[in-house]
Amino acid sequence: MRIGVIGLGYIGLPTAIMFASSGHDVIGLDIRKDVVESINSGNSHIIEPEINERLRKVIKEERLKATTRPEELRGLDAYIICVQTPLLGNKPDLSYVENAIRTVAEIIDRGALVIIESTVPPGTTVRMAKLLEDLTGMREGIDFYVAHAPERVMPGRIFKELVYNSRIIGGVSKKAGKLAENLYRSFVRGEIFITDATTAEMVKLMENTFRDVNIALANEFALLAMQYGVNVFEAIKLANTHPRVRIHLPGIGVGGHCLPKDPYLLLSSAERDFGLIRRARKINEGMPKFVAELLFEALEEAGVKIEDSVVAVLGLSYKGGTDDTRNSPALKFVEIIKDIVREVRTYDPYVGGTHPSVEEAVTGADALVIATDHLEFKGLDWDYLGSKMRTRVLVDGRGIIETPPKGFTFRGVGRGDV
Ligand SMILES: NC(=O)c1ccc[n+]([C@@H]2O[C@H](COP(=O)([O-])OP(=O)(O)OC[C@H]3O[C@@H](n4cnc5c(N)ncnc54)[C@H](O)[C@@H]3O)[C@@H](O)[C@H]2O)c1
Repeated sequence: MRIGVIGLGYIGLPTAIMFASSGHDVIGLDIRKDVVESINSGNSHIIEPEINERLRKVIKEERLKATTRPEELRGLDAYIICVQTPLLGNKPDLSYVENAIRTVAEIIDRGALVIIESTVPPGTTVRMAKLLEDLTGMREGIDFYVAHAPERVMPGRIFKELVYNSRIIGGVSKKAGKLAENLYRSFVRGEIFITDATTAEMVKLMENTFRDVNIALANEFALLAMQYGVNVFEAIKLANTHPRVRIHLPGIGVGGHCLPKDPYLLLSSAERDFGLIRRARKINEGMPKFVAELLFEALEEAGVKIEDSVVAVLGLSYKGGTDDTRNSPALKFVEIIKDIVREVRTYDPYVGGTHPSVEEAVTGADALVIATDHLEFKGLDWDYLGSKMRTRVLVDGRGIIETPPKGFTFRGVGRGDV
């Protein structure tokens, strides 16, 4: 088939590559010229294992090309929309999806399938199908077909998960669901479940809300454990030996493009909500500030004036193993402390613009704060790094340190035992 992928970011580019490597002819559209240029030259603008090799192969075989010109996508068999769906305040900004639909309306031919992969509030896909009907004068289910196929992949494992995850597909019409299923069957080896579009939207949002609420619960356990003198990580490990309990891990907060916004997307179309989801969000949003308080407490205990302190922050991305800093709690933490301490230095092996090495970042610093659980941080020689520091304060925002190194003033989220 000839497939157009609209929006070539963390989701769109790997999806375009997968369709291209399963034998389809794919044209990717993005409004960003730099993104299109780097893709066409075989260099992915996102960091993901295997992506460059896979991209170069399909570019060389002429199965994939990228463009900024919608006309080049005229009359294709299917359009897959993978644009961002961020929040504006606490409300979803659906302008990117709407613009993508407006673009499709200009170039769509009879018989085409339009799939929204972007995560959207319940009711959006049906509304977008209606918008496409209004703009084209054609009818969904007769002249064109619209389905929602939410994406479940995790950055860092995208190419495996695209193939092996099961998928939920929601058709606006029955035929749309069937057509979308056939299309994804080109590479999906997991199960494909068909439902209606609004159910599919809600399923995706429930999945991420489940995770967000459970992380908030783990964070609340961490805050309680600190009052009871308990190491919450040990307590969670023990609680999880119960056959029906699986407590998540606490930390400095929740970030990325999805988890902080999807609970609000879930609530946004509802006339009324019942508090739990919103409260959980607030707990997670408060964690960077809590870690800042731990830092200030530790600095004071170590006899360092907060306003004179130099703080080295390890990790800026929202979680380990990725360069993605969107909604990163590490960035929020830096934002909170930067006008309070004398100097903030950052080091992240995946993110540009930070110090070139941990050693350089910590030399002469008073405190070291672990803000991202990059694997690279787990094996660090704390004694050696401590020897480079002016004062030895260590704050673990990610629970990566089991036994606090000797000679440090140590604080950690959930570490009531130290
Ligand atoms: N990143 C993830 O891990 C993940 C996982 C599951 C679901 N999702 C969902 O997938 C969607 C995309 O997320 P992402 O992380 O890939 O976003 P992204 O910001 O990385 O990529 C979106 C791309 O779309 C482009 N774009 C915006 N409007 C356009 C338009 N009208 N025409 C052409 N291109 C346009 C942007 O320039 C950008 O390159 C979101 O709804 C997100 O919630 C993301």
